[in-house]
Formats: sequence, structure tokens, C-alpha cells
Amino acid sequence: MGQELWTAVDRYVTDLLVDPVDVEGDGLPPHEVSPPQGMLLELLARAAGARRILEIGTLGGYSTIFLARALPEDGRLVTLELDPAYAERARANLERAGLAGVVEVITGPALDALPTLDGPFDLVFIDADKRSNPEYLRHALALSRPGTLIVADNVIRGGAVVNAGEKDPAVRGVRAFFEALAAEPRVRATAIQTVGVKGHDGFALAVVGSPAA
Ligand SMILES: C[S@@+](CC[C@H](N)C(=O)[O-])C[C@H]1O[C@@H](n2cnc3c(N)ncnc32)[C@H](O)[C@@H]1O
Repeated sequence: MGQELWTAVDRYVTDLLVDPVDVEGDGLPPHEVSPPQGMLLELLARAAGARRILEIGTLGGYSTIFLARALPEDGRLVTLELDPAYAERARANLERAGLAGVVEVITGPALDALPTLDGPFDLVFIDADKRSNPEYLRHALALSRPGTLIVADNVIRGGAVVNAGEKDPAVRGVRAFFEALAAEPRVRATAIQTVGVKGHDGFALAVVGSPAA
């Protein structure tokens, strides 16, 4: 039971259902989404009919490729990555995946790039430094239209999200993010806990509407 079983189930689902994404990940921290989670991102983008996608936190471009392959030919994805070496690796992986033409990787702190972007985006995936999640939500909303889907990864943190006295800045960031979502009249939101190869964590999902939605 536990982690071993969650990993085996992820492998079972991956083998049967996930159209694999092949990235060169040597030397990168293992912080990418799992294969079934990547596939979920692709399905969400397809279900939303997304033509413009914003990703905050690229790493080697693994989740980027799942999201980008949901785009129509004239679609566009902008992804933001702090680390120049990770951004370079992502560009190379996107090139190999044949997606370099639809994806722009912007290097530098996301909070510097976000005010320079033109919206609206149809889907925003937040997956960078969790302490900044409240600011990322604020920018995501500013770059949204009614109907935009906002997805944030790693918001359960092994259950630590329920600890009000938590000192970990990442947990504090996701708690502030949840509080901002709860106080935001323009969104309807939830979070889903997940177990799998990445342990116990989860996604938050929010759809932007009008204040009366
Ligand atoms: C969890 S990883 C992203 C994983 C990726 N979305 C995937 O699933 O393949 C988080 C990434 O955010 C980047 N990051 C951290 N702080 C950042 C910041 N302030 N601005 C932009 N990117 C940042 C890290 O360098 C790291 O590559």
C-alpha cells in the first residue's frame, strides 16, 4: 500500500493511456508533472478549446509539450522560466518535439515578465515558486477573459496545506493562494488531491467568470 502502489497505478495508466512526451532531462531536478498529470493538462487544454496558453514554470518543458500539443495550428503558448539553463533545455526539447514554432520560452523572473504580456489567455498553468502563487493568481486574472481556466500544481503538499501555523514559504504561498481564490468574486474554484508517482499532492482549478457567476 502507499507510495509503491500509487507508483504502480500511475505506471499502469501511463502505459495504457498516456501519449508519451520525450524530453532530455539529465541534470534537471525531478519536479515535472507525472505522465498522467501531463496528459490531464493536455485534456484540459483540449476540452477548453485553448488557443492561447500561459505557463508559469517551464523547467525542461515537459508539461509545456503536453499543453502545446493541444493547441490548434495557429495557437500560441508562452512559458516563463527563471533559470536560463532550464529555459535552454526546454527550447531544445520543444524543438525536438516539433513545437518550437508555437511556444515562446521567456527567461527571467515570472513577476518581471507577467506585466509585459498581452492577454487574454484561455488557460493559465501556474507551476513555479509556490511562495509567489498569490501574485501569480493576480496576474493570471489580469490576463484572463470570462471562461479562462486557471490550473495550479502542487497545492496540497502532502497535506501540509491544512497547517495554519506552517513556516514553509511554499505552504504559506499555497494557503494565501487558496484564500485569494476564496475571496475572489470572479472565480469558481476547487482543488483535487492526487496520489501517484509524485506522492500526495494536488491541483487547484479555477474558472474565471463574471462577478455574478
Ligand atoms: C515545478 S518546476 C516546473 C515543472 C514544469 N511545469 C513541468 O511540469 O514540466 C518549477 C519551475 O519554476 C521555475 N521557477 C522558480 N521560480 C521562478 C520564478 N520566480 N520565475 C519563473 N520561474 C521560476 C524553476 O526554475 C522550475 O524550473
